[in-house]
Amino acid sequence: TPPAIIAPSILSADFGALGKACSDTIAQGADWLHVDIMDGHFVPNMTFGAPVVTKIRSHVARPISAYGKGTFDCHMMITEPKRWVRDFQNAGCDLYCFHYEAAFSTAADSPSGKSDSKTSPKELIKYIHGLGIQAGIAIKPSTPVDVLWDIIENPVEDERPDMVLIMTVEPGFGGQSFMASELPKVSALRAKYPELHIEVDGGLSEKTIPQAADAGANVIVAGSAVFGASDPSQVIAVLREAVES
Ligand code: DX5
Ligand code: ZN
Repeated sequence: TPPAIIAPSILSADFGALGKACSDTIAQGADWLHVDIMDGHFVPNMTFGAPVVTKIRSHVARPISAYGKGTFDCHMMITEPKRWVRDFQNAGCDLYCFHYEAAFSTAADSPSGKSDSKTSPKELIKYIHGLGIQAGIAIKPSTPVDVLWDIIENPVEDERPDMVLIMTVEPGFGGQSFMASELPKVSALRAKYPELHIEVDGGLSEKTIPQAADAGANVIVAGSAVFGASDPSQVIAVLREAVES
């Protein structure tokens, strides 16, 4: 199984002092930063775009290797994932994780805004890899895990995802209750793919981590549990310990 990776979601950080919040979290033991990008269309909430990622990148050293400390894990809750890959890569994103549900949109990649009906998860993964960064694919609670088999088992290496994200809340907001109903998706993925990076996101805390770890998740996102803690480093350590034990 791949190593434990703790990725605090900066959605729950102080947006007025985001750079410092990011460097503090890394100093407190976080491996990655989970950067939630919401467009007000794919989800009923908005966060920020690439210019903010550029700014926080200057507060956090680039990872020295793929999946290394300081990885910017950008969770793209947006309707046109292909359209923004280049901007986020330029801004310092290391792992661009798009939603399966949005990857068939007639997303415009062209400056003319013309639709590109050929966009599919596989083509998008290939496109992301072509820009030199890792690709992740996320599914919402209402999406069955079965849609992923064909994408993960693709014989073309370029078109295979580097990580799968199983949402354990409806995407859109921090601080929601963990949905244990999503864990069978994690178990099914782990049974088939011992080496795959499997990320869980939503409602993870010291209380819910044992179930997620048991199911086989290794990349753990936590927003309110980390940023709401009086001692974030302790929460990060507990999450890590649960995955490693
Ligand atoms: C929700 C976001 C999550 C969120 C998790 O749409 O994708 O990353 O920040 O927050 P908590 O850990 O508070 O559930
Ligand atoms: Zn997220």
